Amino acid sequence: MTPLIAGNWKMNTTVHQGAELVIRLRELLKGIDTVDVVLAPPFTSIHHLSHLVADSPIKLAGQNFFWEKSGAYTGEVSAEMLLSAGCQYVIIGHSERRTHFKESDEEVNRKTLAALKSGLRPIICVGESLEERERGKTVKRVSSQLQNALSGVAGSAIREVTVAYEPVWAIGTGRNATPEQAEEVHNSLRDLLYEMYGPDAVKDVRIIYGGSVKPDNIDSLMAQPNIDGALVGGASLKAEDFARIVKFQPM
Ligand code: PGA
Repeated sequence: MTPLIAGNWKMNTTVHQGAELVIRLRELLKGIDTVDVVLAPPFTSIHHLSHLVADSPIKLAGQNFFWEKSGAYTGEVSAEMLLSAGCQYVIIGHSERRTHFKESDEEVNRKTLAALKSGLRPIICVGESLEERERGKTVKRVSSQLQNALSGVAGSAIREVTVAYEPVWAIGTGRNATPEQAEEVHNSLRDLLYEMYGPDAVKDVRIIYGGSVKPDNIDSLMAQPNIDGALVGGASLKAEDFARIVKFQPM
């Protein structure tokens, strides 16, 4: 399966700053064809960047969207709008959305179903809090998040899904999960997908890791058999760091 490395810019970069970052990345990633590279810039930059990433390995993602098609939902953006601006992917259920904007598992599920229906490929985020990890509840928590997110998703659609395991205590803290800790969770998420859909349907479903991924830890993370890529926050804002992450060398 082709690994997927995604950069989540969060609420960073003006239109001009985003363009500079992508122009630099295009140079650094020239010729890369063994990794799917996805960037999730702020909404305001997506359309402009779609022209700059044409003929490059870079694809675009929304950081969020709303499941309704159109209407009186001030401040929201639909799947069709993201597609028309140049996105192929969308991040759903990031822990910052769950924490700051109180997104529930049910909303994550509605977004997942709407994304698949529209043709956007969802990157569904799951992850436990520090307290849940310390109480030994990690696998239970992430399994229930994933099960709820996928409620009603047909076996024929599951191959479009990417799962991102992002322990909340590792996001933006500089404290990444060890490769072994991440592998253990990825392995149990893979088992859950097998149980839900059967091995054939999910053989191409990527489970990527996020939480303080940096040039100096990507190689050991990617050496794990069940880690199929990374969702990168802070380090995706520096072209050289992100390019080094895309060019990981499993060790
Ligand atoms: P980080 O963020 O790499 O800055 O920890 C990851 C994420 O939130 O997706």
